[in-house]
Amino acid sequence: MKITVRLTVSLLIAAALVSSVFSYLQVQSERETLIQELNVRANVLGESLQESIKNYLQANATVKLKRMVERFGNRARLIGIAVYDSQGVGIVTSPALQSVFQITPPKVWESISRNEKTSGIEQINGKAVHLYVIPFDEESRVLGALLLYHDASFIDTRLEGIWRTNFFRLMMHFFLIIITTVLVVRWSITGPIAQIAKWMHSLRTGKAAATIDLPRGDLLRPLAAEVALLAKSLAHARSSAEEEARLRIEAESLWTSERLKEHVKIELNGKNLFVVSNREPYMHMNVGNSIQCIVPAGGLVTALDPIMRACGGIWIAHGSGTADRETVDARNMIPVPPDEPAYKLRRVFLSKEEEEGYYYGFSNEGIWPLCHITHTRPTFGLQDWIQYQKVNQKFADALLEEISGEEAPLVLIQDYHFALLPLLIKSKRPDARVAIFWHTPWPNPEVFGICPWKQELLLGLLGADLIGFHIQFHCNNFLETVDRFLESKINWDQFSVERHGQLTSVRPFPISVAHPFETEISGAPLSSNATKETLLKKFGLSASFMAIGVDRIDYTKGIVERFQAVQRFLEKYPEYIGRFTFVELGAPSRTHIKRYHDLIAELDESADKINWSFQAKNWKPIIFLKAHHDHKTIGEYYRAADVCMVTSLHDGMNLVAKEFIATRTDGDGVLILSQFTGASRELPDSLIVNPYDIEETAEAIHQALKMEKSERRERMQEMRTVVKERNVYRWAANIITTLSHLRMPKQAPQEQT
Ligand code: G6P
Repeated sequence: MKITVRLTVSLLIAAALVSSVFSYLQVQSERETLIQELNVRANVLGESLQESIKNYLQANATVKLKRMVERFGNRARLIGIAVYDSQGVGIVTSPALQSVFQITPPKVWESISRNEKTSGIEQINGKAVHLYVIPFDEESRVLGALLLYHDASFIDTRLEGIWRTNFFRLMMHFFLIIITTVLVVRWSITGPIAQIAKWMHSLRTGKAAATIDLPRGDLLRPLAAEVALLAKSLAHARSSAEEEARLRIEAESLWTSERLKEHVKIELNGKNLFVVSNREPYMHMNVGNSIQCIVPAGGLVTALDPIMRACGGIWIAHGSGTADRETVDARNMIPVPPDEPAYKLRRVFLSKEEEEGYYYGFSNEGIWPLCHITHTRPTFGLQDWIQYQKVNQKFADALLEEISGEEAPLVLIQDYHFALLPLLIKSKRPDARVAIFWHTPWPNPEVFGICPWKQELLLGLLGADLIGFHIQFHCNNFLETVDRFLESKINWDQFSVERHGQLTSVRPFPISVAHPFETEISGAPLSSNATKETLLKKFGLSASFMAIGVDRIDYTKGIVERFQAVQRFLEKYPEYIGRFTFVELGAPSRTHIKRYHDLIAELDESADKINWSFQAKNWKPIIFLKAHHDHKTIGEYYRAADVCMVTSLHDGMNLVAKEFIATRTDGDGVLILSQFTGASRELPDSLIVNPYDIEETAEAIHQALKMEKSERRERMQEMRTVVKERNVYRWAANIITTLSHLRMPKQAPQEQT
């Protein structure tokens, strides 16, 4: 039976039952009230006649009595009265009763024998009548009784009326119940189910997008959410399958998440992959009364999360979110991504002192500016160095615990926060295959040489079997640095270092983004209808051309220089005043460090100054958005922009450049790219600039806006091919393959110099 019919019938039966019970009770009560009224009326009349009747009887005035009795009848429902003597023999009777009572009614006997009033309803000649008998006495001797005889048929009529009214009321209820049930079921159940079913049908037949507007209401929300995830997976699987099919046809060797998964399965032989980084891929934050999960900004997470989604395994990282402790299990583990867990995140929690010294101090005030040549002076404090060593040991302990059950585990360590970790691991687990990937540039020996603990850092790194940099130039710098500061055997043909029996290979692995980018990071294309008009309108502004920048707010990113270039461009080409707006989506970063804190103030001031000098109604040259922006929002800006500006003063790779290209499925848009990024080596079709040269960058903006559509599309096409082919799955496959095929030393390396 259909749900609507079942629900309606149940509700109707319930309503009918309730209504019947209440009607019955109402009828009973009404019946009692009416009988009571008749009793009262009969009693009043009987009492008033009682004395006269008694006198007539005592005076034997039967004629007078008869005349009086005949006067009563057929008035106000009274049919008649009758008088009986003490033996129950009728003395006088109203004419209307003579044909009714041939014999004395039992109620009269009852009243005379008990000397009590009696009453009741009886059916006489098919008619309901009310009998009321009052005995009269003299000094406790019963002299006789008076019978009052009322018509009681009106009671049944009145009660029938009540049944009828309640029946009509019930019918109205039935009607309303049917209408309401049908509407509610259609609105909240069958409608949304039909909507989901229709959408799933279209999805199955390849006609619908993977996303759906979830039906309103709580009832189907969990189902709809699960179905949406299922659809995302289906879309993902379908696009991978299509991609694979296309690959087979084109005989290309494109790396996809599926291909990487299969490849890693073979390489790892069913074992887990272990990743260690400072920054975690998913961070839980207390926002008001709720907990929100955010994906932190930065290239490392952008690159590695898709790898871990594809390969599975364990990612160990610093739990730095305000709600991170509340969301892990007893082993500090949490399955991620939260929507569709694919791997495990183990959080390492640090004390304030550890975070201060290791993260803010040694890593970000020491090594970060040391490796980026941006003229920000590195500082190296002893306390920071102590904390750096302590935290590296803490992560080593966590990792050693995780790999304790695995034979020859594969470990991928990330970045400058963990220069000491490779040696700490290898000295305890020589069978582990350890790689460290350095996401920042590696400077030349003179620059690196200023670090007071340069040898310890180099020794720590050389504990690894494989060290990866983005480009060959950084590999060369590293080997030269080792050559300068450590005694070791460097093999320049093989690009390896041999020291105390430990062999470390040094190789370039240019990192990249997932392909297809948006499907891989979110499970579905993040399409939206946002245009530059709608995006700028949110700020009450409009412009014909929009350029964007997307960065962590970091002094290495050249954001100040970018603002200056925008100013210079407008000065040189005033015809663009009122027509060109630059939007900077800047995610505040490392703000406890003074240099970062000051940078935000400097950027605010610079943007204000430039805006002040050009500002007009409904237009300004720079919109500076300081916030953590999610993938969806950033995607909207990537897609709507005419130009994306990446003007880093120094950058290992810069994945914003590649994300922009990967997002431009429309094949349009121009990339302005700093020559000091690793990405510039792979993307010669961008407009390459020296970000310190403000004139040159201003010219590049002009060139980008004037560029013919055909040229724009040609350049974008070339760049899209590069980003598609050299995607992050290829990066991971290369590192994992290189690591798992390296010749392993027989003895464990030493921790000491
Ligand atoms: C760079 C570093 C990463 C770091 C990211 C974000 O890309 O190479 O290791 O995670 O910046 O910086 P944060 O300090 O917020 O982790």
